[in-house]
Amino acid sequence: MAVVVLEDIFKTYHLGSEVDVPALRGLSLVLEAGEFAAILGPSGSGKSTLMNVIGCLDRPGRGRYLLEGEDVAKLSRDRLAAVRNRKIGFVFQSFNLLSRTSALENVELPLMYKSDGLSLREIQRRASEALDQVGLSDRADHHPSQLSGGQQQRVAIARALVTEPTILLADEPTGNLDTRTGLEIMEIFQKLNDHGITLIMVTHEQDIGRFAKRTIVMRDGRIVRDDPVEDRLAASDEKEKLPVLVAEEESVQ
Ligand SMILES: Nc1ncnc2c1ncn2[C@@H]1O[C@H](COP(=O)(O)OP(=O)(O)O)[C@@H](O)[C@H]1O
Ligand SMILES: [Mg+2]
Repeated sequence: MAVVVLEDIFKTYHLGSEVDVPALRGLSLVLEAGEFAAILGPSGSGKSTLMNVIGCLDRPGRGRYLLEGEDVAKLSRDRLAAVRNRKIGFVFQSFNLLSRTSALENVELPLMYKSDGLSLREIQRRASEALDQVGLSDRADHHPSQLSGGQQQRVAIARALVTEPTILLADEPTGNLDTRTGLEIMEIFQKLNDHGITLIMVTHEQDIGRFAKRTIVMRDGRIVRDDPVEDRLAASDEKEKLPVLVAEEESVQ
């Protein structure tokens, strides 16, 4: 089943009363369940705007958006937020973790906001499980400042997963990370995708796109290319090929 159907989407930002900035200009896209799509394109081409629309953070100005068959383009802000909390997980370039809070508590947070009456014990259990999925069980008590960049991004991924979203959206998830750490994030994404989660990732790095199953190239608010990835790379294999360094993670206490 199609998870995302976008039809002829327009989005224009209005700066003051004078200036209109067209960010999406008649964009159509279908994403099936289980896809792993990389969105590529130069800065300003509309990648983040597209993610915000798909992620129900923002409404399109014009066009149709079906999310798992539900027409969400014209929902009120509150209804849109409810859909977002239920179906979408976000990972950003700048991890956006709360600094005075442990890894586990950061991951618990989205469940605290969900009003489906989970007990604290159940929230903790689910958060631990999500940390386990990203291989960070042993760092549950650490605060973000005690974690490497890659570990912080893994906490952010666990936080996105804990609500069991239909789609995981990642906007430049490796933008602040070195090559090896970026590969570790891709390894986690490939594993999650193998387990069935639908993944959409923005990147401006061509190389990172080769871990996805499909690359979509944007320019000036439109899709200009959309191809399956031939010779897809496995992040775990690519990691093996890197020269061995003193493990960065061990140096962070
Ligand atoms: N909040 C905003 N207000 C005004 N203009 C914006 C805003 N966000 C993005 N834009 C503009 O919309 C266009 C697309 O931006 P964006 O989606 O951030 O592109 P990308 O993520 O590919 O760099 C750019 O011209 C950008 O300047
Ligand atoms: Mg962007």
